[in-house]
Amino acid sequence: MKLCIIGSGHVGLVSGACFAEIGHRVICVDSDREKIEKLSNGVIPIYEPGLEELVEKGRNSGRLLFTAELSKAVRDSDVIFVAVGTPPMPDGKADLSYVEAVCREISEVMDSYKIIVEKSTVPVETGEWVKQTLQRNIHSVDFDVVSNPEFLREGTAIKDFMEPDRIVIGVESERAEKIMREIYAPLSSPIVITDIKSAEIIKHAGNSFLALKISYINAIATICELAKADVEKVAAGIGLDKRIGASFLKAGIGYGGSCFPKDISAFIDIAGELGYDFELLKAVENINKVQREKIVKKLRDVLWTLNNKTVGILGLSFKPDTDDMREAPSIYIVNELQKEGVSIRAYDPAAIENAKRIWNGITYCKNAYEAAEGCHAIMILTEWREFQELDLEKVKKQMIQPVVIDGRNIYEPVKMKKLGFTYVSIGR
Ligand code: UDX
Repeated sequence: MKLCIIGSGHVGLVSGACFAEIGHRVICVDSDREKIEKLSNGVIPIYEPGLEELVEKGRNSGRLLFTAELSKAVRDSDVIFVAVGTPPMPDGKADLSYVEAVCREISEVMDSYKIIVEKSTVPVETGEWVKQTLQRNIHSVDFDVVSNPEFLREGTAIKDFMEPDRIVIGVESERAEKIMREIYAPLSSPIVITDIKSAEIIKHAGNSFLALKISYINAIATICELAKADVEKVAAGIGLDKRIGASFLKAGIGYGGSCFPKDISAFIDIAGELGYDFELLKAVENINKVQREKIVKKLRDVLWTLNNKTVGILGLSFKPDTDDMREAPSIYIVNELQKEGVSIRAYDPAAIENAKRIWNGITYCKNAYEAAEGCHAIMILTEWREFQELDLEKVKKQMIQPVVIDGRNIYEPVKMKKLGFTYVSIGR
């Protein structure tokens, strides 16, 4: 099948490389010529394990191509995936101007039947707008609109694409359904066929439910702190119930990233527009915000005053195995500490370059031991595996006083106490 993917960000690039891997010819389009130039030379602008190798393989096979020329790519393809950004606007709404602009461009150059697939996360009813936008310009050729949301996690995106729990296809014609099924035939995952609006809601409802699980366990963590119980044990105890499931029950400093915060606020917004006040999700957002505030309070409760203290921050990315800092809890936390006069020494295995674009007033370190040097406390903000494997005796020797505030519960409280640390974590 001849596919074209418009937007070479995380979703577009991973999808393009994976579609090429399963045998399709794929043209990835992006208006950023510099990015296309780099990609054409095998330089990957994002950190995603396995992606570089997959892009290389696709390029060598001749099935994966990159271009900034949308018109030719569209004409040369049967199916056009739209994977451009839908960033949040100040009021929480998703900004759909890139989706609209791309649809207009497609409509101006289409010269034969095409399927236009919404891959970007969009609020319900966007499909209708896409259809109308295309119809306005297209007169003599036929087309179908499809919603095919992605469920790719950063860090495991290739596996998520190749072995998805399910593939959701919102479609309204048999012709388009047949072609979409053919595209995904090499993957042996269940396919859920729905109407377009239901597919759009599946994406928002799925992400919101996962965020809800995180905020739920964080609320339980607060109760555990008040009752002197252990949230890790509670999570294990409830997670073994198959109806609940163990995943996304990790208490911590809350969710971040390019999807959850944006999708939850967009879902609240569209629900409101449709006439439903989504109070449940507003509570999810609020609990998430409070988790960040609470970790700063925990530090204050141990150090008493923060002015002129030095704190080591281990982990800046919103989660491990990515360099992505978008909506990372670390941003709020570091900003708060700076406001209170704390000197920050930070280390992250992948996100330092991105962090440098946010702060220049902090000391960036080469490793965790260097970050701990001369510190009154260290804070764990991302659960990178290498932090779990640190020589904690060595860490302690670098510090002025042995205080660890663990926002991701990566250490055992009993062990930390034995090692002589003042150790504070979440819900334990
Ligand atoms: C998410 C969805 O999982 C994916 O399906 C969607 O397409 C894009 O958004 P991603 O943002 O890459 O993927 O990260 P994810 O692994 O889902 O984690 C999101 C945030 O939740 C991270 O900040 C993570 O630290 C936090 N989290 C996750 C928890 O705090 N506790 C958990 O138990 C799980």
